[in-house]
Amino acid sequence: MIKLGASRIDIERAAEILNNGGLVAFPTETVYGLGADAFNPLSLARVFKVKNRPHFDPLIIHIAKTNSLEHIACLDSLDSHCRKLLDLLINSFWPGPLTLVLPKRQEVPGLATAGLPAVAIRFPSNPVAQALITLSTGAVAAPSANPFGRLSPTRAEHVMETLGNSIDCIIDGGPCQVGVESTVLEIQNAGIPRILRPGGINRKQLEAIIGPVEDGSKISQEKGNIQCDQNKTAALSAPGMMQSHYAPVVPLFLHSPEEMATLPYHDKEGYLFFSGKNRTQWPTNPVQLSSHCPAILTLSETGNITEAAANLYEYLHILDRSGASCIHAESLPEEGIGEAINDRLYRACHKN
Ligand code: TXA
Ligand code: MG
Repeated sequence: MIKLGASRIDIERAAEILNNGGLVAFPTETVYGLGADAFNPLSLARVFKVKNRPHFDPLIIHIAKTNSLEHIACLDSLDSHCRKLLDLLINSFWPGPLTLVLPKRQEVPGLATAGLPAVAIRFPSNPVAQALITLSTGAVAAPSANPFGRLSPTRAEHVMETLGNSIDCIIDGGPCQVGVESTVLEIQNAGIPRILRPGGINRKQLEAIIGPVEDGSKISQEKGNIQCDQNKTAALSAPGMMQSHYAPVVPLFLHSPEEMATLPYHDKEGYLFFSGKNRTQWPTNPVQLSSHCPAILTLSETGNITEAAANLYEYLHILDRSGASCIHAESLPEEGIGEAINDRLYRACHKN
């Protein structure tokens, strides 16, 4: 495994590895991706193997110029209304954390889409990702670079720890800025666009540009109190929207802000607060869980949701490695990217 930086020479080397069928982990603005040439079925098969990912869960194909879209999606099959929506979305949100699910071209290997007739496509804004895609074949299939079901990586070290031994190369481009995966939006003829996974672009932002958007990702929630109840399982609206996902190794329990404020403190457990607000009755100097990890972490002291998103996986990784017997996390306001954070915390949460 080769560890590279983000210089031009390093990215050229990584692109060569991709072009020769290798697997390269690289930074995007959301999370690190595990890249493979989207048109090389053998490389795609290795992605599934390395991640231990079920073959029914399709991959996102990453591009670095809008024109590449037509080599992957069958745009001719879209009606004029869909074409208009698509143009609006591309102009407003690309490059950025929005993945579009569109009818696929026949040339795209079935392995990339898990045999589905639609393909997910994203144009990331991270310049390292863009350079890598441009220098390779222009179409890089990349799931998040973590073992299936586990926490997504927002640093090269997270990838090293979990997949370092089984991939060919990692580009270290520093921490990811958004911190939560892209929003996955499905566009279909004669249908309202549907969010399959909440993410970096929220529903309000989408609706401001294209009008009504359906939320096909909703999990059971009651007035900000997220229910961790297996019986309330929502239908599997997207292949990758398994209820249990994005999870740390130790159990995670999700609490409303009110519950979190009054939770009894145990010194072998880890606590992840959204802001400083509900932490007022808590010990200011709690016992360290390990030399690097205080038992209480706060996603954003001032309650800034964007900052909270950027810290989410990083802090979950820290608590997961800290020796804590479990993690208690506070749910966030359902505003902006808070919706995507709650979705991830809910899916990470321990179901009895
Ligand atoms: O931000 C992101 O999207 C990151 C970075 C690396 O770009 N990638 C990522 O990929 O999160 P992954 O594989 O971990 O999640 C992709 C999601 C899954 O929920 C998958 O089921 C869904 O996108 N998806 C992919 N192709 C699809 C398709 N053809 N139809 C419906 N859902 C699809
Ligand atoms: Mg993932």
